[in-house]
Amino acid sequence: MSETIFVDGILNGRVAFVTGGGTGITGGVARALAEAGVSVALVSRKLDHLQPAADAINQNGGKAIAVVADVRQPEAVENAVAQTIEQFGKIDIVVNGAAGNFLCAAEELSPNGFGTVVDIDLKGTFNVCRAAFAQLKEHRGQILNISATLHYLGTPMQLHVSAAKAGVDALTRNLAVEWGRYGIRVNGIAPGPIEDTEGMKRLVPEPVKERLRKGVPLGRFGRIADIEKAAVFICSDAASFINGVVLVVDGGHWLTGTRLG
Ligand code: COA
Repeated sequence: MSETIFVDGILNGRVAFVTGGGTGITGGVARALAEAGVSVALVSRKLDHLQPAADAINQNGGKAIAVVADVRQPEAVENAVAQTIEQFGKIDIVVNGAAGNFLCAAEELSPNGFGTVVDIDLKGTFNVCRAAFAQLKEHRGQILNISATLHYLGTPMQLHVSAAKAGVDALTRNLAVEWGRYGIRVNGIAPGPIEDTEGMKRLVPEPVKERLRKGVPLGRFGRIADIEKAAVFICSDAASFINGVVLVVDGGHWLTGTRLG
């Protein structure tokens, strides 16, 4: 988010724990939060993804650290939370963006393939929320879960991801109800097709892209910057009474029913 439309330093003094924060949509969200004044811990499995992203934020005047943890392992997540507190003193924003994805027809999907995506996207999100709860409670913090619109209709080749993201939306709503009493806001963003992502390059074949694009009422694919702005808004005090919402950022795409298959 090179040219911010927000007031400078709108999120000054906050600390965010961002999973999947090295690359793609969540990489952009982490960068945008840092530009808005947030100290960010970028958390994922691979240091070679994380370190360049953290270095870029630090060189740009922000504050970032790279923390290696697989969100599927609760103990690793707890250690990552502890490292973040050690470095930045607290956590008051959690962004759950770590996700796994591949195209596979349901009849060819192995139980382990299905389970792996559910483990990363859904159970990983729970592991992180659970591990960060004490900090979020202490600082009246918030959670932002990145899901999708795949499960609003039926999306061929995406059974595993649709099931996992539907679960993530359920976590968002349920935690909003259970943890609202502690002043913790829990919201989500459901991105539509975002063109400058690895997922779009890898998962959507060229001929399908044009059909998908025509299905977006606003006439274009989204960009990572569109998600960044939505994320900064939700994390800001402008959204202080918004809780349990999954904000669809897709140019109206899902309403037209245009799917991958
Ligand atoms: N088609 C079908 N099944 C697949 C698959 C594919 N393209 N990729 C993985 N699987 C299955 C594997 O076959 C395995 O099941 P099996 O034991 O029954 O064979 C299971 O998923 C686990 O795969 P594995 O590669 O061992 O898991 P992993 O933990 O190393 O990685 C992913 C899982 C999903 C993260 C991996 O597919 C991946 O690296 N994807 C690219 C990164 C990514 O998804 N980024 C998000 C962009 S939106």
